[in-house]
Amino acid sequence: MKHFLQFRDFTQDEFVYLFERSRQLKALFKSYTIYHPLKDRMLAMVFEKHSTRTRVSFEAGIHQLGGSAINLTTGETQLGRGEPIEDVARVVSRMVDIVMIRTYDQSIIERFAVHSRVPVINGLTNQYHPCQIMADIFTYLEHRGSLTGRVVAWVGDGNNMCATWLQAAAIFGFRLHVSTPPGYALDTRSASPEELAHLSVFEDPMEAVRGAHLVTTDVWTSMGYEAESEVRRAIFADYQVDEDMMHVADPEALFMHCLPAHRGEEVSEAVLEGPQSVVWDEAENRLHVQKALMEYLLLGRL
Ligand code: CP
Ligand code: NVA
Repeated sequence: MKHFLQFRDFTQDEFVYLFERSRQLKALFKSYTIYHPLKDRMLAMVFEKHSTRTRVSFEAGIHQLGGSAINLTTGETQLGRGEPIEDVARVVSRMVDIVMIRTYDQSIIERFAVHSRVPVINGLTNQYHPCQIMADIFTYLEHRGSLTGRVVAWVGDGNNMCATWLQAAAIFGFRLHVSTPPGYALDTRSASPEELAHLSVFEDPMEAVRGAHLVTTDVWTSMGYEAESEVRRAIFADYQVDEDMMHVADPEALFMHCLPAHRGEEVSEAVLEGPQSVVWDEAENRLHVQKALMEYLLLGRL
C-alpha cells in the first residue's frame, strides 16, 4: 500500500505514468465518457483548514470515477473535541477505501498514515502541498512540455508550495530559483542534498525571475498564520509578481498561482489575468491529476 504524503513519495517514473493517465482521464471527462473503475469505493476527506479547489476536485473526482466522498471537518467531528488522530485513522480507515487530509503539521498526516489501513493523500499541510504541484507540472507539460533543464522562479513566502517545488526540482531535474524576504526563507532542514543541489537563493526577486521559464508565487500569509498578516503585508511589499517582473523572465514564461490569489498583494491584477497566466488551467487540472492519483493508489498501474 502506498501513500502520497510528500511529493518525493513517488519516483519520476511514477509521475510520468500519472501524467499520461491524467491526460487520458481528462480526455474521457471532456468527451463525457463514463468511466467507473472505483465503483462503490469511498473517499473520506478530512478538512482541518478551509478549501474550495481541494474539496471540489476530490469530491467531483471520486464521483466521476464511480465512487463517493464523505466530508469530515474538525468542527463537526470528534477531532474538534480532541480525539487522537491515531484513533481517527484506525476507525475511519476500516470504513472507507482511501483518505485525503488537509491539516496543520506534517506530523499529523504521518501519524494518520501509520495507523491507516488504506492509502492517505496529503491535501495540504503547513509543510507541503503535493497534489497542487502535480497539477502545476501537468499544466506546464500541456502548455510547454517537460520542465527538465528549465528554471522555475518562486517569489514570496518560503511556504508549503515552495518546499514542494524543491522536491519536484530534484525529481524532474529543473532548477528552482527562490527569492523571499529576510526571515521568510524556505526551511531546508528536511531537504535532501540532491534537492539542495537544485536550489538557488536570490536576494533580489528580479534576479530570481530573470530568464525563468515558469514564474510562480502564493499568498503572503498561509492558512494558520493569519495573526501575522498585517506584519507580512509590509515586509513582502517588494515581492509582488507584476508586469515588470514578468518582462525579465523568458518571453515564453508562464505564470502560476495555486489560488486563492490576493490581487495587488503577491500578484498584480495584470499578471493574474494576463496572457502568461495559466491559473485557471492549474485549478482545473487538480481534478484530472487527483483522479489519476486515486486510481493509481487503489488499482495500481492499468
Ligand atoms: N489551491 C488550493 O489548494 O485551493 P483550496 O485551498 O481552495 O483547496
Ligand atoms: N500556502 C497556502 C496555499 C493554499 C492553497 C496555504 O497554505 O494557505
